Amino acid sequence: MNETINISPDITDKKKRYELLLPQIQALIEGESDLIANLANVVAALQYNMGFFWTGFYFVKGKELVLGPFQGPVACSRIGFGKGVCGTCWQKEKTIIVADVNQFPGHITCSSYSRSEIVTPVMKNGEVIMVLDVDSEKLSNFDEVDAVNLEKIANLVAGKIV
Ligand code: SME
Repeated sequence: MNETINISPDITDKKKRYELLLPQIQALIEGESDLIANLANVVAALQYNMGFFWTGFYFVKGKELVLGPFQGPVACSRIGFGKGVCGTCWQKEKTIIVADVNQFPGHITCSSYSRSEIVTPVMKNGEVIMVLDVDSEKLSNFDEVDAVNLEKIANLVAGKIV
């Protein structure tokens, strides 16, 4: 059950927190076939255990990304291909880490509190089908540890899609 996902605040090492979180996310989505239910639980587990400001999925729908399950303040509903950090992730088909959103040309501001960001593609059969977007109120909050672990989560999610 998802109430087991409650990693002690005493564990301050980010890598360790992901290590504890990943098998729990895997277990959480293993027994559920509904995509929206799984995405909703994944973003809640990440947001509340990793202390992010905003965590959510955008679905590739035609020529746009459309907002999916998320945790955090209201966000923009649609993002074009190649636009913002999310659209750039979709276009480049790779994880994008932005240390300071104000330095990223074309960054789409959903909240002025968001200062750094990471976006990871969810790939299925060689195509981006969703992106996982995470924002932080802290500058330079994301690094390779986040990239590796969010990519693992993206793969777990992709594996549930038939
Ligand atoms: N900042 C993103 C838009 C989505 S929000 O951060 C939730 C971007 O530039 O694509």
